[in-house]
Amino acid sequence: MVTTTGGDTGANPNPDAPTYASARSGRQGNVCKVSGARVAGALVRRGGDMGDGATRRPKPAHLGPAYAEQFGDPAVVAAYRYRPTYPEAVFPMLARLAGGPSGAVLDVGCGDGAIARPLAPLVARLDAVDSAAEMVRAGRRLPGGDHPHLTWTVGPAESAPVNPPYGLISAGASIHWFDWDIALPRFSRLLAPGGWLAIVGESVRPNPWDADLQPIIDRYSTNRDYRPYNVIDELTSRGLFTRAGQWASDPVPFRQPITGYVESFHARNGFSRDRMSPADAAAFDAAATARVAGHCPDGQVTLQVVGTIVWGSPLAPVERTDER
Ligand SMILES: C[S@@+](CC[C@H](N)C(=O)[O-])C[C@H]1O[C@@H](n2cnc3c(N)ncnc32)[C@H](O)[C@@H]1O
Repeated sequence: MVTTTGGDTGANPNPDAPTYASARSGRQGNVCKVSGARVAGALVRRGGDMGDGATRRPKPAHLGPAYAEQFGDPAVVAAYRYRPTYPEAVFPMLARLAGGPSGAVLDVGCGDGAIARPLAPLVARLDAVDSAAEMVRAGRRLPGGDHPHLTWTVGPAESAPVNPPYGLISAGASIHWFDWDIALPRFSRLLAPGGWLAIVGESVRPNPWDADLQPIIDRYSTNRDYRPYNVIDELTSRGLFTRAGQWASDPVPFRQPITGYVESFHARNGFSRDRMSPADAAAFDAAATARVAGHCPDGQVTLQVVGTIVWGSPLAPVERTDER
């Protein structure tokens, strides 16, 4: 069994990773049947709690804009390359959801292009949007950042200028940061009929050091509001997303020195070096290294990384209405 990080297990070695899905260790290409269908016509929203005059249910505090902004910190951008890469199988799967080589993709919260750069060659065009200028600047310079199918835009997912319609909107480790009540209805308008929103994530199989590391994470995180959550449940219960299918890659080993593994935390929610005191950052690094080193005598960490995709329709199921 694969457990997702940041979920409701209490073990949270990747403190900004929500639970996306019940990732199952299956064969690559084990695509769940697409059970949902988008129907052209007037959108009718069902469920949710945002009818006229109704009160919006606020997002959890730990996902607020002040925390999202940390991804614009130069220190977070610099540490980003230490985060594990997505398993390769994720990209052909996303290309299939986009409609194949003629597909158009909008990648929201693209960061430095961990999804956008490998996916762009597999589709006809890919627009990559992120609110953090530093992230986009880094992405343009990384391998594949200048692919002719790829257009970068700095701006919020909620309002950045884009070029619809899209067969797929992908959100990799990012949807939890958006203003859901604005972004999800917008995504619904930007999708072509039959298009999907894909919520992409990574989960890491449990490590032998997780239980030792968790108290260190809890002690030094600058996000004092953190609580475990499941982003799919959060969106679904608000009537903002309807799941149609889900997929998980086989686990893929990701190997890096302990120093790189510890540094990867500084690219995550609550661990920006620009928001920690130097003393706290150094104390975190020393304590985390000590906790992990006992399990990795050769100084190398090997993570088993699973790529996860949950796709569906922004908003509740759509249906045609003939009402006037
Ligand atoms: C954890 S990173 C994920 C980056 C990339 N998609 C990946 O999978 O590695 C989250 C990204 O979402 C971006 N972000 C947060 N809020 C945003 C918003 N409202 N609009 C656009 N991007 C946003 C951050 O700047 C950051 O680059």
